[in-house]
Amino acid sequence: MFHRTLIGPLLCLLTLANSSCHSEEKGTDSLEEVVFYDDVAKIMEQKCVPCHQVDGGAPFVLTSYEAVSRKAKTIVEVTQKGIMPPWPADPNYQHFIGERLLTEREKQLIKAWVDQGKLKGTGERVLQAKNPKGLKKSKPDLILDMPVVSLRAGDQDRFFLMRIPGLVEKDTWVKAMEIRPGVRERLHHFNGHVLNYKQVKSLPWSNGIQEITQGEYEADFAQLDLLETDGSRPERIHSAVNYLPGMEGTLFPDGIGGFRLSRQFALIGNDVHYGPSDQDTQDRSQIWIWFADKEPRRKTAEFMLGTNGSSAIEPPLLIPAGQITHHRTAFQIKADVSLLTINPHMHLLGSSLKAYAVKPSGDTVNLISIPRWDFRWQYTYTFTHMLRIPRGSWIVCEATYDNRASNPNNPYSPPRTVGERLEYGGASMRATDEMLQLIIGYTPYQKGDEALTL
Ligand code: HEC
Repeated sequence: MFHRTLIGPLLCLLTLANSSCHSEEKGTDSLEEVVFYDDVAKIMEQKCVPCHQVDGGAPFVLTSYEAVSRKAKTIVEVTQKGIMPPWPADPNYQHFIGERLLTEREKQLIKAWVDQGKLKGTGERVLQAKNPKGLKKSKPDLILDMPVVSLRAGDQDRFFLMRIPGLVEKDTWVKAMEIRPGVRERLHHFNGHVLNYKQVKSLPWSNGIQEITQGEYEADFAQLDLLETDGSRPERIHSAVNYLPGMEGTLFPDGIGGFRLSRQFALIGNDVHYGPSDQDTQDRSQIWIWFADKEPRRKTAEFMLGTNGSSAIEPPLLIPAGQITHHRTAFQIKADVSLLTINPHMHLLGSSLKAYAVKPSGDTVNLISIPRWDFRWQYTYTFTHMLRIPRGSWIVCEATYDNRASNPNNPYSPPRTVGERLEYGGASMRATDEMLQLIIGYTPYQKGDEALTL
C-alpha cells in the first residue's frame, strides 16, 4: 500500500516509530513504503509477466520476488526510460487495443521499491500473467507446421524466407490466424502473406526455407518456387498474419473481416527473424488457423502508403550518409471508410513517425505517433474503436530517418547513403535498405460504426 506523502510528515510527528516515515528517510520523496507482494507484484502481473514467464517470449522470467529482485537495477532503468514494456506508440496521441504501458505512478512505485531496499512483504506466490483479453482459447481448425530452423550457440540475428503450403477441401473463409512459436525466446518476428493458387500444385511442394543472404534477396525468393503452374503470380493477401513477442492474433467482431483461402494456398514468411542464441537449439513453430462459418458480412481491405504503395514519398527516400532526413507521403480517401488497424514500417535508420488524417473540413484525426522508432517492435496496432474517415480526407504520414554515425542502429560504420532499392520495386526486406510504409486496415463505412468497439 502507498499513500501520498502530504500526510507522511504529519504521521511522523504523531508516531515516532511509524513506518510511513521510512520512504522519507530513504529519499524517495513521493511514495510511502512500497512492498513487493502488495504493490510491485500487481504491476509485474499486468505489464511484464505476459512476456516474462516460461514460454512468454522474453529471455528471462519475472514471476517471483527473487527473480524480480535479481534484475531490479535494470528494471528501474528500462522502466524509467520507457524501454519496457515495449510499446512504441505514444498514448497521448492515440490509444490501441492491448496497450501495455506503465503509468507515471507505477514507474515511481517500482523505483521506490528498489530505493527502499526491495521490501518483500507477505503473501508470497508465483506471479501469473493478467492478459488483457483471452483472444481465442478455442482449438484451431487447422494447424500448419513451419520449417524447422536450427540455431547454433553464438548465432546473431538471422533472417529467413519460408514457404508453408496448405490444402483445404474447398475455398474456406478464415476468421483468425495466429503464430505459435516453438522456442519463444528465439522467434522474434514473423510477417506472413497468404498466396491463393488457382490450381493445386503437384507434389513435391512442401515446406521451403531460405536464409536471407545479404544482397541475394530476390534470388532467394525465386528459389522458393511461388508462381502458379502457368508462371503467373498467385493472388496475395498482404500481412495476413504477424507475430512479435507478446502479440496475439486479432479477432474482429463477428461478421467483420477475415479472408479466403483457396484449396491450394501457401503462407510466405517474409522476413522471419530469429534473435541471438546462446545454445544450439531447433525451432519448429506453428500457424494456427480458425475458420469462419461463412463469408463475412463486411470485408476488410488495406491502404498502403509509401514504398510499394499507392502514394509517392517526398522527397524520395534517399538518406545521405551522415544526415537526418524528413519525408512525407499522403493519400486521398475516395469513399467513407472505418479504420481498423495501422501498421507503420521502417527499417534501422527510422527514428520517428507520425500519421494523421485531414478531413475535408480541415479537422485532423490523430492516427499514430511513434516518437522513438524501434525496429524490433513493429506492431500492427488495432484502434480501440472504428475510426470514421470521410471521403475526400487525406491520410498523411511523416517520417524522420537518422543516418549519422551516432545512431546506434546504423547498420554501416562509417555511414553510407541508404535508400529504397527501387531497381527491385523497393521491395527489399534487407534491413540495410530503407522503407517507409504505412498499411491501414479498413472496411467501408456503415452508419453506427463510430459506436462499435473492436
Ligand atoms: C511484449 C513482451 C514484453 C513485455 C510486456 C515486457 N518485456 Fe521485458 N523484454 C522482452 C523481450 C523480448 C526482451 C529481450 C530484449 C529484446 O528483445 O529487446 C526483454 C528484455 C527486458 C529486460 C532486459 C533489458 C536489457 O537491456 O538487458 C528487462 C530488465 C525487462 N525486459 C523488464 C521488463 C519489465 C520490468 C516489464 C514490465 C514493466 C517488461 N519487461 C515487459 C519482452 C517484454
